[in-house]
Amino acid sequence: KKTIILPHIYNCLIKSGTVCYIFLGPLYPIRGTLSYRSDDGSSPEISLLQAFNFYGNAHSSIYVNHNGYLTFDAEWSSYSPRQFPMNGSRDVIAPFWTDLDNRGSGNIYYDQYTSGPILQQVTQDINTYFPALNFQANWIFIASWHEQSTFQAVLASNRQYSFVLMNYGSLAFTPRNLQAGFDTVNSSHHFTIPGSFSVNATGPNSVLTLDSNVNVPGRWAFCVDQSSTGCTFNGQPVQIGDSFWSDSTCAQKCTCTGAGLQCSNDPCSYSQICRPASFQYSCQTVQRRTCTIIEGKCFNISPAHLN
Ligand SMILES: *[C@@H]1O[C@H](CO)[C@@H](O)[C@H](O)[C@H]1NC(C)=O
Ligand SMILES: *[C@@H]1O[C@H](CO)[C@@H](O)[C@H](O)[C@H]1NC(C)=O
Ligand SMILES: *[C@@H]1O[C@H](CO)[C@@H](O)[C@H](O)[C@H]1NC(C)=O
Repeated sequence: KKTIILPHIYNCLIKSGTVCYIFLGPLYPIRGTLSYRSDDGSSPEISLLQAFNFYGNAHSSIYVNHNGYLTFDAEWSSYSPRQFPMNGSRDVIAPFWTDLDNRGSGNIYYDQYTSGPILQQVTQDINTYFPALNFQANWIFIASWHEQSTFQAVLASNRQYSFVLMNYGSLAFTPRNLQAGFDTVNSSHHFTIPGSFSVNATGPNSVLTLDSNVNVPGRWAFCVDQSSTGCTFNGQPVQIGDSFWSDSTCAQKCTCTGAGLQCSNDPCSYSQICRPASFQYSCQTVQRRTCTIIEGKCFNISPAHLN
């Protein structure tokens, strides 16, 4: 029995009386098919139960490459990361591209779901970060690297929209450089998580674990379908579905919709304060909730209300 501090954004996954089943931190459950033990290896080709649209390329299979990244058309053993944009010939989704070796320790899992509580949790989380889209996933894929470094790549889609989430737990120092982000064929679209290729990328104080683009430390979320033409604010790109507050008092909230940027008066609620965010400002909940964990269940959440 122990008392833990819940992260300021959490969702009650299954509520039963006063018992609330939750996922702690940015990681989803680590489970699925175990990949081989092989240095610089890859999973076998994994057929996707539903095609995944990555910036207009519909992919029907995927490879989990042990050096920390996903590819679609063929496996790839590269252990020496390149900086994005690399203007290459592959679509790459790279939560943690560096030299990893799972022969001695460390497990790599992958799984896909078309229903169930994990898919519902991913759906809820994406709707929190991209509130304008009314998204309901009908397929998700999760690749998990567990110890030496623990992190995940999550793909989610409802055919119309596609998302990639990267989740980071405890990360070991790695001797080589590290690239985190994604890149398309010819780099028509690419993103690098800030801090990649720096000394701050790995280790216990990694910026991947401590920072976020969605106000959940250790989680990074991206809308990656062709529909994402997005919006701009003061010349800066904003992803479709993304929201931010445009001023330092958080009086006005703006959301990038298919019809452009839409702003309205929407100040922070009573339990929130306005803080600088990775983009402009955001209302952040300051009150921390605690609960008592007994055998993986969370009791006596305080304050008592669940949302
Ligand atoms: C990308 O690579 C192609 C050939 O593969 C080349 O023609 C093009 O100039 C490159 N673009 C950039 C920005 O490097
Ligand atoms: C990538 O660039 C090459 C060379 O410029 C071109 O032949 C190819 O069609 C491009 N591929 C995509 C998917 O844009
Ligand atoms: C690493 O983090 C420290 C402390 O936050 C910061 O001062 C430094 O600029 C960072 N270095 C790089 C290369 O990002």
